[in-house]
Amino acid sequence: MRLPLMIAMAASFASLASAPNAAVPAQIIPAPAVDTPREGVFHLTVRTPIIVPPGDAEARAAAHQLADLLARSRGLKLSVREGVARPGAIMFQRGAPQGEAYDLEVSGDRLVVTSGGSAGLFYGAVSVWQLATEVAGRGGVDIAARRIEDAPRFAWRGLMLDGARHFQDVEFVKGFIDRMALAKLNTLHWHLVDDQGWRLEIKKYPRLTEVGAWRVPAGPAAAADIDPKTEKPRVTGGFYTQDQVREVVAYAAARHITIVPEIEMPGHAHAPIVAYPELGSATPAPTATSGDWGVFPYLYNVDDKTFGFLEDVLTEVVDLFPSRYIHVGGDEAVKDQWKSNPAVQARMKELHIASEAALQGWFISRIEQVLNAKGRRLIGWDEILEGGVAPSATVMSWRGIDGAIVAAKLGHDTVLSPAPTLYLNHRQTAAPDGLPGRGQVIGLKDVYDYDPMPAALNPDERHHVLGVQANLWTEHMRTQERVALMAFPRAAALAETAWSPAERKDWKDFADRLPAELGRYHALGQPADETALRVRAIASPDGAGARVSLLGAEEVGEIRYTLDGSAPKASSLSYQTPIAAPLGSRIHAQAFRDDQPLATASEIAVDARSIRTRASQDLKSCKDGLVLNLEDDAPVRGDRARFLIDVMNPCWIYQDADLAGVSAIEVAVGQLPFNFQIGKDVENIKFRPPATPDGELEVRQGSCEGAVVATLPLAPATKSQAITVLKGRIAGAAGPQNLCFTFTQKSVEPMWAVDRVTLIVGGRDDR
Ligand code: ACM
Repeated sequence: MRLPLMIAMAASFASLASAPNAAVPAQIIPAPAVDTPREGVFHLTVRTPIIVPPGDAEARAAAHQLADLLARSRGLKLSVREGVARPGAIMFQRGAPQGEAYDLEVSGDRLVVTSGGSAGLFYGAVSVWQLATEVAGRGGVDIAARRIEDAPRFAWRGLMLDGARHFQDVEFVKGFIDRMALAKLNTLHWHLVDDQGWRLEIKKYPRLTEVGAWRVPAGPAAAADIDPKTEKPRVTGGFYTQDQVREVVAYAAARHITIVPEIEMPGHAHAPIVAYPELGSATPAPTATSGDWGVFPYLYNVDDKTFGFLEDVLTEVVDLFPSRYIHVGGDEAVKDQWKSNPAVQARMKELHIASEAALQGWFISRIEQVLNAKGRRLIGWDEILEGGVAPSATVMSWRGIDGAIVAAKLGHDTVLSPAPTLYLNHRQTAAPDGLPGRGQVIGLKDVYDYDPMPAALNPDERHHVLGVQANLWTEHMRTQERVALMAFPRAAALAETAWSPAERKDWKDFADRLPAELGRYHALGQPADETALRVRAIASPDGAGARVSLLGAEEVGEIRYTLDGSAPKASSLSYQTPIAAPLGSRIHAQAFRDDQPLATASEIAVDARSIRTRASQDLKSCKDGLVLNLEDDAPVRGDRARFLIDVMNPCWIYQDADLAGVSAIEVAVGQLPFNFQIGKDVENIKFRPPATPDGELEVRQGSCEGAVVATLPLAPATKSQAITVLKGRIAGAAGPQNLCFTFTQKSVEPMWAVDRVTLIVGGRDDR
């Protein structure tokens, strides 16, 4: 990872012990529906018993959940016993609130969770744990007296996990489920099938996983990574056995989470068609699984034998997953192969179906009948509306919210899951060390501010909105650790939207509760991304020194900094406007919410080089195309560069670069495989023609049509799969002007990318 400025991290999570303050809202995420402070304090100690009604296994499970969380986060080992309420105890009891709802009463002499529902008792346990961890620390803790009455706003509180693009192991999925449960999320939509992989063992069709679960990653680096066992390129992938799925489903159920499996059709079917070519619509059928992203053209055909296959698959799926809903995808099925396939066309004629869109409607309806006959309900992405589908089908709205509005007005139930706001595959910060993902930043507040109830629905239509879901598409999450980081803390913002009453939502209040939540992740050893909360800098020359802008934790915290080398504190200088700093200085900076640090501190070196260096993430795209924060495909093992690149128009702008005194330029470049299935759109990607066989990087001043001020041949970089630093002369006018970077090349393959630019003063690299 390279940064424009050297940023060193120093762990500084303080353990902040203070007396509980009942006037402060309960530090619970998602915020409870009603929270009424009372007089008094409950002393939780290692001797506090947790009491459950005799013979109530579910109450005992909730109590054990609390005991386990307290042991892991505070080192407090409490015993769970059957019995009746007594002073000084935590009590789980049955009572009026039903289902997921619960009451929680904290007074000086007892702490009581009441619910008629097992889920309610479980969520009550989670809330008690959150009250006990409002302040980080080990051992006993005082909990301010209060009465909480809580119930969810929505029945569907979901996260979608894409196991198809990159596979996550069973342990990871269980940990993910644990974290969902602590956020009172109750639906795991498990995307088990896509073009790049089939992840579910199907006994009747073993090739789905023998063949369809494995692929060679895209690009020459992976192609050259030979597995000595097979003497072929190493494959990546995996699948879940049916025993593992049963284990995960039971694990989720014990945490009040329903798993809704997704089996994609009729599109996103490349992997199963490679496994069983007779299922496809195109000749020749694809012969290898693929590491490409995007929208593949391969569709299932509409033969009865293919429906037989899908029915067999769904029979096994239904046997494994007890969920009311089965998701069948339905999205992004480009109809070209149906249009050009004579058998498909003949079938349309025979069925008097006038269009391929209507054929998809017929396809999905036929599958819906299969599911209904098995006592299940179909859910699909909003494209299922296009060809007409029975009102009993539920629509997951992803192309904005229009799908949900149309669906609800037609009488369908719907779940709001719109891109880009609830697409957690978007990066959550513009920082150069942010994780790979879609380029448009979707920050914590963006997720928080989303309200899933479309204003266009009248009260009668609103009951069709089952709830809300955020999606973790994993094209750019190569490791499962990254899935966790992309999910958290944004899933906490989603959880509040999904659970808390609309009138309880308040960003400032949520941000006040965030440090406690981050402390809980920390205490349980659960990864959460802090890049968006960490301070970073962009510096520019200013006279003989520099002007340094500090960024990070926007709308969450306040940046504090020091110039004397000391660690920042909540009382350090507050950053308001860019800082004038001499070359050779170091700025230590950290974001705080009130007196609590939000992330580790950053150390920022200000020198002649850092003030003229920009990472690709600091550069501006020339147009709004398909901007991605892409990870290099090389090296196969070890750290890889990340490039912010507009795949449709690879072009970068260094804004207000001053060439005064600058005589050389250094550009770190990388080459990426063009592994995007974008159909004919590829013809819209234009390059200037190269002057030399390997092409060159051209730098223009003023605009992308301006005068060329530097030309760096790519020849030295062609042999390296990873980063190469190109250096050359630059000669242009002094004074702040934009510099535009583009590559000359003959075709999209390979895709050249700028990693980092440094302007060098006086021809010397005077670091
Ligand atoms: C989707 O993002 N294609 C549902």
